[in-house]
Amino acid sequence: MKSTGPEYAQDQFKAGYQDRFGGFLAGCEERLTRISHGPGGRLGEACALTLAAGGKRLRPLLVFLTTKKGYEVDERIYAAAVAVELVHMASLVHDDILDGAQLRRGQPTLAARYGPLIGAAAGDYLFASAFKTLAAQGVPRAVSMLASASLGLSRGEFAQMEQARDHRLPVEAYLMRCRLKTAGLFSAACSLGSLLSGCREQTISAMSGFGRSVGMAFQITDDILDFAGESAELGKQAGADLRDGTVTMPLMIGLERDTSLAGLLGVEPRDPVVAEICRRVRDTGALDDAAKETARHVAQAQDAARAAADEIDAEPLILIAEMAAERKK
Ligand code: IPE
Ligand code: IPE
Ligand code: MG
Ligand code: MG
Repeated sequence: MKSTGPEYAQDQFKAGYQDRFGGFLAGCEERLTRISHGPGGRLGEACALTLAAGGKRLRPLLVFLTTKKGYEVDERIYAAAVAVELVHMASLVHDDILDGAQLRRGQPTLAARYGPLIGAAAGDYLFASAFKTLAAQGVPRAVSMLASASLGLSRGEFAQMEQARDHRLPVEAYLMRCRLKTAGLFSAACSLGSLLSGCREQTISAMSGFGRSVGMAFQITDDILDFAGESAELGKQAGADLRDGTVTMPLMIGLERDTSLAGLLGVEPRDPVVAEICRRVRDTGALDDAAKETARHVAQAQDAARAAADEIDAEPLILIAEMAAERKK
């Protein structure tokens, strides 16, 4: 894993492109604030709180960056960007209930603060708002793209629950879960940007593949950070996957190399045991090997971006793909 420094993609991206997208993200933020306060009362408070806690807003950024060169951003692009972030936020609120997570974006999760019932209701409201926002643009194919991603997300999250503590899970099943729960929404964000700005079919398809590969790299990196990161920097609890029994690639590789680890994976390992498992998984070199899988997806994403370079500005996308793997939070 790399540390940040001037030579890293994140710095290059900020230096080269921040001016271009700052105004767009501020516009998304205004719209998201309006929508999340919409219901008022405790529901509005809960929705607004998860929004105010922040987040990287990577999916709206991808919608923006996958628009056709020279396309002037309009309400369609805003609607798509807001809709993908709303689906993402909804999925996090529900995911934290399923994972029993206490911390999100550096704040108590909605379920920790208001209980799982309000958490479930807020997640539903955010999901529904996403579809209302996008449907208002009158492009059925766009709505269908977001629907497919959302269906995948719920299937992926359910599979994760069913596969909890299954230490013999084949790696293909893990990768399929990443694809469903994370890569599908990244892919939808990129397909929407290119579709709604009038790109050719070939470009939309390349952008769909780009998003999918970035999403894979992003999720595998997230799973690595669960073993390597610090809660304070992540804004969520490190070791959360071990606590709730989610079996990810680093653990799969670690278990293969150090079979005695299996004895430590109790029903809900206590904090010192979680720290020991993390250390021992790291000692096997499993994180480096999982990072190689990530690198494969980054390279695929970059190829897809280059393939669409006649209609899309490939450079920022090439950097974003790298950032998905080098990130620390
Ligand atoms: C977290 O996504 C969930 C995963 C898919 C791993 P992000 O890391 O994009 O979350 P925020 O929006 O920045 O909080
Ligand atoms: C991603 O999985 C969650 C969704 C795609 C909804 P994780 O469970 O790993 O995400 P974090 O770590 O809680 O953000
Ligand atoms: Mg989670
Ligand atoms: Mg995670």
